[in-house]
Amino acid sequence: MKIAFVGKGGSGKTTLSSLFIRHLAAAGAPVVAVDADINQHLGAALGLEEAEAAALPAMGDRLPLIKDYLRGSNPRIASAETMIKTTPPGEGSRLLRVSENNPLYDACAREVELDGGTVRLMVTGPFTDADLGVACYHSKTGAVELYLNHLVDGRDEYVVVDMTAGSDSFASGMFTRFDITFLVAEPTRKGVSVYRQYKEYARDFGVVLRVVGNKVQGQDDLDFLRAEVGEDLLVTVGHSDWVRAMEKGRPPRFALLEDANRRALHTLQAAADATYELRDWERYTQQMVHFHLKNAASWGNERTGADLAAQVDPGFVLGEGVATPA
Ligand SMILES: Nc1ncnc2c1ncn2[C@@H]1O[C@H](COP(=O)(O)OP(=O)(O)OP(=O)(O)O)[C@@H](O)[C@H]1O
Ligand SMILES: [Mg+2]
Repeated sequence: MKIAFVGKGGSGKTTLSSLFIRHLAAAGAPVVAVDADINQHLGAALGLEEAEAAALPAMGDRLPLIKDYLRGSNPRIASAETMIKTTPPGEGSRLLRVSENNPLYDACAREVELDGGTVRLMVTGPFTDADLGVACYHSKTGAVELYLNHLVDGRDEYVVVDMTAGSDSFASGMFTRFDITFLVAEPTRKGVSVYRQYKEYARDFGVVLRVVGNKVQGQDDLDFLRAEVGEDLLVTVGHSDWVRAMEKGRPPRFALLEDANRRALHTLQAAADATYELRDWERYTQQMVHFHLKNAASWGNERTGADLAAQVDPGFVLGEGVATPA
């Protein structure tokens, strides 16, 4: 399953991503955690020391390696230089699994020990001002998008991405890559305005969007969120002393997380798991092609000097049945 946490800056994306990752790891599930947020804090939220977090390899710095590995022997992709973030896989491309070992994980992932399990963590690397504009050749999240577009994931294994609700993910199609998107919203007008914008983009693409209320205190907060987002409100989380203790550098055992918050994490997992039945690999592949053609026409062809539409393998559908070449 591919799961995104999005929302306004400071809403609690990283906090809730990290709790969900801890919850999955404690349940023994294979997990790849991805930090694609502007402020790179997921490593710290998973308990890494500052120096450890700073030493994580940045996916954004390893794009040539990622592209070279993923294009494999795909004859439609002549070189890593002509592969852009939306270039879809086709026959000959290397596909990825959540749990396998491969050169991409070797280069970009590090294991993080959590209570009850180990997860793989990958980070885009810190964003610069240049990353925050429109669709960009050097986009940090491009590496994550390539990863997701080549990933064949199954039930009971999880990729959890902590990311912003920014224009970059709408332009590239990144926002369509998830089985479910959890939009973290504080019970404020600003918090729900990001929800409205996201919902607008998501409407035409079958994106499953559920709101997770955060820092919700009492009935008035709950009523506000219900009134603003209606049925899309999945669950709410209140202030967590467990989180606060962790932020003081004294992480309690995960088993000591407050009951209400533990139940909320179960609700998130149940909602994610339920989307498995909605899986449609054909649509998933069509959407990546759609956004690739859009990006090719708007900047990619010009930037690479190639006709990037020719990279699309018309007969290819990503999915469990597709074999990856050795
Ligand atoms: N439920 C909670 N209980 C206690 N503290 C919380 C909770 N949710 C978030 N916080 C605190 O609020 C602050 C912002 O949360 P967090 O970093 O998760 O937000 P974010 O959306 O990832 O922000 P950014 O946009 O900066 O990446 C952090 O200090 C975090 O510890
Ligand atoms: Mg964050």
